[in-house]
Order: sequence, then C-alpha cells, then structure tokens
Amino acid sequence: MNIEQLKKLAIETSKNSYSPYSKFPVASVFVTKDGQVFSGVNVENASYGLTMCAERNAIFASVTQGAKDIETLVIYTPTQEPTPPCGACRQVIAEFSKTAQITSFCDSDEELNLSIEQLLPSSFSM
Ligand code: THU
Repeated sequence: MNIEQLKKLAIETSKNSYSPYSKFPVASVFVTKDGQVFSGVNVENASYGLTMCAERNAIFASVTQGAKDIETLVIYTPTQEPTPPCGACRQVIAEFSKTAQITSFCDSDEELNLSIEQLLPSSFSM
C-alpha cells in the first residue's frame, strides 16, 4: 500500500474513533516491511486515564497478528494542524522499528514527515 492509499484508509478509519470526551478523533494506519497493513483509532473512556491512542491500538493489534516491523506509519486528524505522535506512542513505535517513517497529516496542506529517530532520538531500549 502506498502513502496515498494509507492516507485514504486513515481518513476512513478516523470515523471509527471513539472520542466523545476530547472530540479529537485520531486514526493511525501503517504498513509493515512485508506489506501488511494495520489501523487503529483512539478509544477514550469516562475514566479518562484509560484512553488509548490510535497509534498504540494499531501497533498492539499488529503484534497480536505476529507483525512487528513498521515501515511507514500515518496519523490523521481532521484538524488544520497535523498531530505528531505523543511521547508514549513514540516509545512504542521505537520498540517495533528503528527506521519507521511517520507522516502526520490533516485537512490542510500542512504535513509532518519525520523518522522515529528524529521524533525520539536515543530512545530507551533493552
Ligand atoms: N491521541 C492519539 O490518539 N494519539 C496521539 O498521539 C495523541 C493523542 C488521542 C488521545 C485522546 O483520545 C485524544 O487524542 C486527545 O488527547
């Protein structure tokens, strides 16, 4: 799946976001090095701290299916500014790829294109 197809899927997927509290829908879609595609949305809870980000939902689903190697990950928000991944999601992305390319895009022409190394230099690993 190329970047335009990943973006299209992310826009569609964002409609499934469960974000009644923040009213800030997020969708994340990524392709692995062997071509598998995974997606996730943010899922909130009345107990706010239980909220899970779109990126981690996508990544945890991929691990469940036995896939780990993120190649290109897109993040979509229906906003005028692109949304980069939060710190926790950066650490989780780094766990499963040292070379992931991340594109954050939105409803304007603004876009962020950064590698995980740029987003989280010297990430913790064991
Ligand atoms: N959110 C994500 O899904 N990913 C991020 O990287 C940043 C924040 C979600 C969590 C919450 O549902 C909403 O955005 C507002 O913080």
